Amino acid sequence: MATEQRPYHLVVFGASGFTGQFVTEEVAREQMTAEQSSRLPWAVAGRSKEKLQQVLEKAALKLGRPTLPSEVGIIICDISNPASLDEMATKTALVLNCVGPYRFYGEPVVKACIENGTSCIDICGEPQFLEVMHAKYHEKAAEKGVYIIGSSGFDSIPADLGVLYTRNQMNGTLTAVESFLTIHTGSEGLCIHDGTWKSAIYGFGDKGTLRKLRSASCLKPVPIVGSKLKRRWPVSYCRELNSYSIPFLGSDMSVVKRTQRYLHENLQESPVQYAAYVTVGGITSVIKLMFAGLFFLFFVKSSIGRHLLAKMESSSFTMTFFGQGYSHGFSTDKNKPNIRICTQVKGPEAGYVATPIAMVQAAMTLLNDASDLPKGGGVFTPGAAFSRTKLIDRLNQHGIEFSVISSSEV
Ligand SMILES: NC(=O)c1ccc[n+]([C@@H]2O[C@H](COP(=O)([O-])OP(=O)(O)OC[C@H]3O[C@@H](n4cnc5c(N)ncnc54)[C@H](OP(=O)(O)O)[C@@H]3O)[C@@H](O)[C@H]2O)c1
Repeated sequence: MATEQRPYHLVVFGASGFTGQFVTEEVAREQMTAEQSSRLPWAVAGRSKEKLQQVLEKAALKLGRPTLPSEVGIIICDISNPASLDEMATKTALVLNCVGPYRFYGEPVVKACIENGTSCIDICGEPQFLEVMHAKYHEKAAEKGVYIIGSSGFDSIPADLGVLYTRNQMNGTLTAVESFLTIHTGSEGLCIHDGTWKSAIYGFGDKGTLRKLRSASCLKPVPIVGSKLKRRWPVSYCRELNSYSIPFLGSDMSVVKRTQRYLHENLQESPVQYAAYVTVGGITSVIKLMFAGLFFLFFVKSSIGRHLLAKMESSSFTMTFFGQGYSHGFSTDKNKPNIRICTQVKGPEAGYVATPIAMVQAAMTLLNDASDLPKGGGVFTPGAAFSRTKLIDRLNQHGIEFSVISSSEV
C-alpha cells in the first residue's frame, strides 16, 4: 500500500456529516489507544474548513484530548471538483468515504481513488451502487493494486462476517444460513439521520435497475450445496426467537451472496445459501406493520440533535444466525442436513455507533494486515476482502461481539 510516500495513511471524507463525525471520533479513539509507534498520520476532508475544524474540536472535547485538532490534517475537497478529489486521493493511502447517498456522490470518489492508487472503504447500504461499482471498476482496481471495499458499516459487516464466523465455527460443511436482526430500541425509539434515510429510500426505489444489471451481467449461478434453503413467507413466525419476522430489505442479502460467489469462484470454498430477516415482535406489531406498509416507515422517523443522540444511547442490535450443514464425511447429496448451529453478532446502536466501529476496524485491518487480503486488489465485499484476516477478533475487542449460542447434531 502506498503509505510511505504520502503524508496521510487515512482520510475521513465527509467528516462533517452526521455519520462522518462519529467515524472521525472513532479514528481518534483508535489512535489514542494505539502504541505511540503505530499511530498513523491522518486527516479529515470535506467542503467546509470551519465545519471540519468544529468536528475535530468536538471530538477533542469528548475524548479529553485537547491537542487533537493540531494533530489531524484538513483537506478541502468537493465531489463537484474532480481536481480536489485527485488531490485528496494523492495525499493518502486510504479514503474512508462517508459522503452519501452513494448513488449520487460515490462514483467520482471510487474513480479518483483508483486513478491515484488509493484504497477506499465506504459504508454504503445501496446494493445498486455496490454492484455497479464492482461491474465497472473491479478490473481497474486490480490493475492498480488498490482495494475498494463497500458496505463496511452495519450494512453489511455483521451479516457478511457473521456468516463467515458461523461457517468457521461449524464442525463440518455449512450449507445454509438464515439471519434474524433484532433492533433493541429502548424507550426512546429508533433513530436515523436525514442523509442515511435518503440513502435507504433511494436504495429501495431502485430495485428495477438492480434487476436489469443482474440479468445483463450473465453470471453463472452459484451451485446449491445440500438441501435448498426455502424462503419464508413475507410474515413468518420464528419459534426459536419467539417473534414474527419479515424479510430484511437492506443490502445484506446482496452483499453476502456476492461474498459467497467470490469465495466459491476464487478460493474454491463451499458456497453458503443465505436469507436475511428482521424480527418484528408479537402479533400486535405485525398488525401495526400491515397498516404502516414498509416496516421502517412504522419504526423510523428522521429527527435531529440531542433527541437523536439520546435515542442512540439506548439502542443496540442482535443478529442471530441459524445455520445448517453436514458433518465431516456425511454426504451433501440427497441427505438432509445433520448439524445445526446458532451464532450471534451483538453490538451497540447500529447506524452511528456500530457503523464507525466496523468501518474503522476494517480500515485498521486493511492498513495493518495487508498480507492477509486477496492478492492484487479489486472491488470487494467485506467478506471477500477480510475472510482471511483477524477482523472478527478486532470487532470483538471493540464491542461488536461474535459468539456461538449452540451447536448440535440432529
Ligand atoms: N452502512 C451503514 O449501516 C450506514 C450507517 C450510517 C450511515 N450510512 C451512510 O452514510 C452516508 C452518510 O449519511 P449521513 O446521515 O451521515 O449524511 P449527512 O449527515 O447528510 O452527511 C453527508 C456528508 O456528505 C458531504 N457532502 C455532501 N455533498 C458533498 C459534496 N458535493 N462534496 C463533498 N462532500 C459532500 C456533507 O458535507 P457538508 O457538511 O459540507 O454538507 C456531509 O459531510 C449515507 O449514504 C448513509 O446511508 C451507512
